[in-house]
Amino acid sequence: MDYTGLKIPTHVAIIMDGNGRWALERGKKRSEGHLAGYENLKTLSEYIFQKGIKVLSIYAFSTENFKRPKAEVDFLMNLFVEKMKEYSDYIAKRDIKVLFSGKRSEPIPKKAIELMNEIERNTEKNSSGILNVCINYGGRLEIVEAVKNISLLVREEKLKIESITEDSFSHYLFQDLPDIDLLIRTSGEVRVSNFMLYQLSYAEMYFPKAYFPSFSTDEFDKAILTYNKRNRRFGGIDYESKNH
Ligand code: FPP
Repeated sequence: MDYTGLKIPTHVAIIMDGNGRWALERGKKRSEGHLAGYENLKTLSEYIFQKGIKVLSIYAFSTENFKRPKAEVDFLMNLFVEKMKEYSDYIAKRDIKVLFSGKRSEPIPKKAIELMNEIERNTEKNSSGILNVCINYGGRLEIVEAVKNISLLVREEKLKIESITEDSFSHYLFQDLPDIDLLIRTSGEVRVSNFMLYQLSYAEMYFPKAYFPSFSTDEFDKAILTYNKRNRRFGGIDYESKNH
């Protein structure tokens, strides 16, 4: 679709939900659903950056996802290690910087942590866009970690309490990114599930029925058209509604 004349969100966030259901409905294993999700992510993210969106955050694995059966957790961790290199090479060729949000410690395998550090170093000079991959991520965890880091600086007298503002707080989050304009959660679930709570404050929300592996570039176009119909007021009032 031609995006000329449309409002383009700066930061889009996607909760890639429904890989398992996509697979089960097709008589496949859940793991095949995750693989199909990965293949879709490649095509979709390339399209999103092509369209001029500057930041894309994706929820790849939450802190809560570790409660899944060990075989599925192991499968997903191996998928990240195997595919993250291929994916970051693919996306970095488009001048995209890759960042990771989440706690880089156990139970994330050491190999995966080393890979994340390496990918961040290798792509740090890219400047056409940012891909923020959330792994071992929780929104409350992110806020609590920021508060801990700020507290340490205050205790060491390196930061004054009065200087802490809503803007400066975001420097202490896993990554310092612009606010999210558009949140998409696929598969018809209407929940935020502990995703980027600080950054979502004024986001428009879009909940398509499609499972993530079927959330095509055409489906993304529909999300952009819906976003363009929304009236974002950021807590203010628009001109028409002033006559009351
Ligand atoms: C949610 O679907 C999806 C996940 C927990 C994993 C998402 C991961 C990918 C798409 C691969 C990303 C890969 C890289 C390299 C970044 P679900 O299993 O909860 O689906 P269900 O609700 O239908 O069971």
